[in-house]
Amino acid sequence: MNSAPDSFSDNDTVRALQWRDNCLSVLDQRKLPGAIEYETCDSAEAVAAAITSMRVRGAPAIGIAAAYGVVLAASQRYRENPEHWKEAIEVDLARLAQARPTAVNLFWALERMRGEIEKAEGDPSVALLEAALAIHAQDVAANRRMGELGADLLEGAAGVLTHCNTGSLATGGYGTALGVIRSAYRRGIERIFVTETRPWLQGARLTVWELDQDGVPATLVADSAAAYLMKSGKVQWVLVGADRIAANGDTANKIGTYALAVAARHHGVKFMVVAPTSTIDWPAESGDEIEIEERDRRELLNEHFTREGCVITAWNPVFDVTPASLIDVIVTEKGVVRSPSRESMRALLT
Ligand code: MRU
Repeated sequence: MNSAPDSFSDNDTVRALQWRDNCLSVLDQRKLPGAIEYETCDSAEAVAAAITSMRVRGAPAIGIAAAYGVVLAASQRYRENPEHWKEAIEVDLARLAQARPTAVNLFWALERMRGEIEKAEGDPSVALLEAALAIHAQDVAANRRMGELGADLLEGAAGVLTHCNTGSLATGGYGTALGVIRSAYRRGIERIFVTETRPWLQGARLTVWELDQDGVPATLVADSAAAYLMKSGKVQWVLVGADRIAANGDTANKIGTYALAVAARHHGVKFMVVAPTSTIDWPAESGDEIEIEERDRRELLNEHFTREGCVITAWNPVFDVTPASLIDVIVTEKGVVRSPSRESMRALLT
């Protein structure tokens, strides 16, 4: 059962996830750019641990990995108990659902795989693998479509700024906001700026590495340089991905996105969110209903301040919510929503 769900193109050569020899192979993103190391996950538990530890990260990639985790769980549970594997796999679904809280793609993918489990008769391995490969391939196709739709909107812009990593490392391939940037680069956009994205440095370690692999020139800036960059007139658009979009267009994304949106509005810079419809949480009325993950304070604190008895601590929310009112456009594979609101978002349901 080997398969690569899409073809690589000239400026899209990196893959975070690959199904190989009946296992999920994941590129360990904690080690980039210093080391390119793949880890083999052969169980749902291993996939969940890879997500929690951020060896796999980025909302769409988390969902795809979880789908492959269900394939691994189903094969194992069926082997152990062909009569009652559907009951036994509930433990694995619950474990995967606990891996990280904010990216709704995780829960979306698990629901889709649950539908396949319900339909399965006999050995589920082949049908569930087909379903996971389809989720993976559909994500790449959505990204390519969003790349073109988003690049259309950038016509006439000379420079863009992006935050976090939304590229092939964060998705099935090509990327969301970074996919739009890839498409815009092919159409001749002049300047691509990337924030460092503290504290985990998705921009400084991952996005610039990915662009370097693909020969796409970019300029790294400190997060704290973003407002000054906007004031300089070098960028006309900020492009970001999303971990969860509420029904009214409020968008949870990497910490710092909200500050960028506030600064962009102040400077007359346009703000674009790029995300597949699998990132929309329709039951969530607004961003207030989105759980924001807080990670270990040690991701933020210098180790000097983690010693026993030290009076310093840290608050480390890793996402924030940008209100729809600060977003000019949400680009999905089903179309573009300008000035997102509960009403305008509904067009995506038709
Ligand atoms: O904590 P991470 O690295 O998983 O956060 C990733 C982001 O916030 C991305 O912007 C988002 O998942 C969209 S990825 C296409």
